Amino acid sequence: MRIGSRDPNKLAEYAKTSGVKAGTFEEVAAFGDVIVLSVKGKRAIEAASMISKQIAGKVVIDTNNPIADGPPVGGSIVPFFTGPNDSLLERLQAAEPKARFVKAWSCVGAHLMIDPKLEGGRPTMFIAGDDDAAKKDVAAILDGVGWETEDIGKAAGARAIEPLCQLWCAPGFLRNDWAHALKVIRPAKK
Ligand SMILES: NC(=O)c1ccc[n+]([C@@H]2O[C@H](COP(=O)([O-])OP(=O)(O)OC[C@H]3O[C@@H](n4cnc5c(N)ncnc54)[C@H](OP(=O)(O)O)[C@@H]3O)[C@@H](O)[C@H]2O)c1
Repeated sequence: MRIGSRDPNKLAEYAKTSGVKAGTFEEVAAFGDVIVLSVKGKRAIEAASMISKQIAGKVVIDTNNPIADGPPVGGSIVPFFTGPNDSLLERLQAAEPKARFVKAWSCVGAHLMIDPKLEGGRPTMFIAGDDDAAKKDVAAILDGVGWETEDIGKAAGARAIEPLCQLWCAPGFLRNDWAHALKVIRPAKK
């Protein structure tokens, strides 16, 4: 595993303590088989364009949310720069058609992304993307780090997933409650 930045020097301390080697976005994207694109939402397309060559044909996990500038609306709802019939994932997929984007990990805080320890069993991560094989790979990764996966379909499924970031953040802004995740529950199997 490697971690990227436009300025890898700023990750020197992290690289030393974690053992994860830092590099430029281009170096890290060339190194990885599966890429996690996790940058400021407004800059995600710009960041993807920097690694366009390196991500062609690869699975790219898109954790990004289309968060606009400004405070939470009504004190609880993070403002978005996309609308209901649109999503950042679709914009990324259209901008970089050779990459195989899968939306994942966008609707939970970073501190719970890996091996979340919560009551009620494994939480659910919602995924979407046009490439079924890429989604299968991402579901296997999620399974390995404590999540069950709910596939919401092709890239347009991200229109339903990205607003879950707004839902997830609301208890945090209202009550400083950031320790939760979403879960789909179904009738017991007979
Ligand atoms: N933090 C969370 O708990 C969480 C949870 C779920 C989803 N997400 C989503 O994941 C993404 C990353 O989250 P974050 O908290 O790390 O957000 P962040 O602090 O806004 O993003 C930092 C990253 O954005 C990159 N970046 C900023 N401007 C850039 C530009 N003009 N071009 C290229 N890269 C640029 C930075 O690269 P440099 O190192 O080069 O400056 C850095 O890697 C966001 O879209 C967020 O909505 C976050």
